[in-house]
This record gives sequence, structure tokens and C-alpha cells, in this order.
Amino acid sequence: MLRIENLCKTFHKNQLDEKHIFQNLNLTIDKGDFVTIIGGNGAGKSTLMNMIAGSIFPDSGKIFIDDKNVTSMPEYKRAKLIGRVFQDPLKGTAPNLTIEENLSIAMLKNSSKNLALAINKQNSEFFKTKLAELNLGLENRLKAKVGLLSGGQRQAVTLLMATLIKPKILLLDEHTAALDPKSRDKILSLTKKITDDEDITTLMITHNLEDAFSFGNRTIMLKHGKISLDLKGESRQTIDPSVLFDDELTL
Ligand SMILES: Nc1ncnc2c1ncn2[C@@H]1O[C@H](COP(=O)(O)OP(=O)(O)OP(=O)(O)O)[C@@H](O)[C@H]1O
Ligand SMILES: [Mg+2]
Repeated sequence: MLRIENLCKTFHKNQLDEKHIFQNLNLTIDKGDFVTIIGGNGAGKSTLMNMIAGSIFPDSGKIFIDDKNVTSMPEYKRAKLIGRVFQDPLKGTAPNLTIEENLSIAMLKNSSKNLALAINKQNSEFFKTKLAELNLGLENRLKAKVGLLSGGQRQAVTLLMATLIKPKILLLDEHTAALDPKSRDKILSLTKKITDDEDITTLMITHNLEDAFSFGNRTIMLKHGKISLDLKGESRQTIDPSVLFDDELTL
């Protein structure tokens, strides 16, 4: 589903603060995989997601999504293939629009319809069903402005928006890091439920090693722009996280 070939990225090229982030990174992710990504601050995890999403372009190398070469495809076009949830709960939703309006925008992802046409009874019923599955009581608050919701509720709505139309790849960049422990657990279990139910190929960045090894079916660790660890399946759960701990890995 995702193939990255010889990806290179340097920030501030030919300047004093030149920073090589990736040098010939190769990575293949199969359809339906849920891959957790770990690595210290500044390892390049978010940069990798930004390049997959097209927010940043690589210096060289290729990115394929579902066998389509998207390397030079602009971000707005690639957004049709990708669902994204960021660390900041304020980032994924429009606060002055209602839950219904936000979800309607997500429904328009692959359509040329305008927002007014997307807000209709049929969609409202669909949104209610989807919101009920979150188990947060939001199905009765379709007309509530999203800005009134808690961070956890907003992340749940963002997660729903990112997956309402099944993306080829779901990118989660520390999407629970800003939440209190209860909301965090809730969003993580929703993430698992939605990605399992819809069989969504997912990449999740986390600093929590326990989550990294218990979620999904594969864990990769980035270090100095390389994949320094690539573990698959149940065996990950037997790893003692302390053996991975060094100055560069912040828990
Ligand atoms: N747009 C940019 N311009 C210049 N440097 C950048 C840019 N984006 C990221 N960097 C640098 O690239 C390095 C990798 O950053 P990145 O955000 O990918 O790290 P990360 O692994 O996500 O770290 P964290 O765990 O702190 O989120 C950092 O040194 C960062 O300062
Ligand atoms: Mg990051």
C-alpha cells in the first residue's frame, strides 16, 4: 500500500545548519498493516509523515501509494488518499462549524459537491450512526459547534473525519499525546476499533513504547534517518523496552 524508495531529505542544504534527515530510506508497508513508529525527538518521524502526505517534498527518491507514484503530487490532491490526525486536537477540525458541518466537509473529500449539498438528511443519519459508535454521546450534538468540545471529543471527531471515507493510508502523529489519560485510552481504543473494522492501513507515531508494541502488527524505529529496528507480529510484546532506551529515545 505504501512504498518508499531511496528517499533523501536534507534541511537547510549547503548552510551551516545543514541537517540530513533521510539518506536512502526504503520502506514498504502492506495493505491492512498497522505500523507503529518510534524514535527520539528529531529522528524524522513527523518529517516522514509530512513527505508521505506531500506537505514536504523529498530531495530525491520515490513514494508510491497503492502503486501510484505520488512523489510530486501536490498535498491537496494526495489528501484524497490520506487520512491524518495530528497531536494538536485543535488542528483537525474547524471550531466555528458544527459537528455536522465538519463531518460533511470530510464527506466531500472525493466529490465535487459543495457543502450545502453535503448537509442533508441522509448524511445526518449516517453521521449519527458513526458518532454513536464513538460512545461519547455526540450523536445528539450534531448542531453543536466543534469549538465547544473537549480535546478528547475533538480528537474523536477528527479521527472519524479522517476515516469517514476510507483512506488508503491513515497517518497518526502522536494523536493522543495532548490528551488526559482517560481520553487517551478512549482515543486509542477508538483508533483500534475503526482501523480494525475498516481494515485501514495505518502508521502511528508514538513515544509510548508499550503502545508501540501492543498496537498493530509491526513497529519500526527511526534513528539517524534510518530504520534501526523493524519488528513484526506478536514477538514485539516480548521486547524489553529498556534495551531500546538510550539518549535519543524519549519515552
Ligand atoms: N520544515 C523544516 N525545516 C527545517 N528543519 C526541519 C523542518 N521540519 C523538521 N525539521 C528538522 O528535522 C528534524 C526532524 O524533525 P521531525 O519533526 O521529523 O522529528 P520527530 O521525529 O517528529 O520528533 P518529535 O518526536 O520531537 O516530534 C528536526 O531536527 C527538525 O528540527
Ligand atoms: Mg514529530
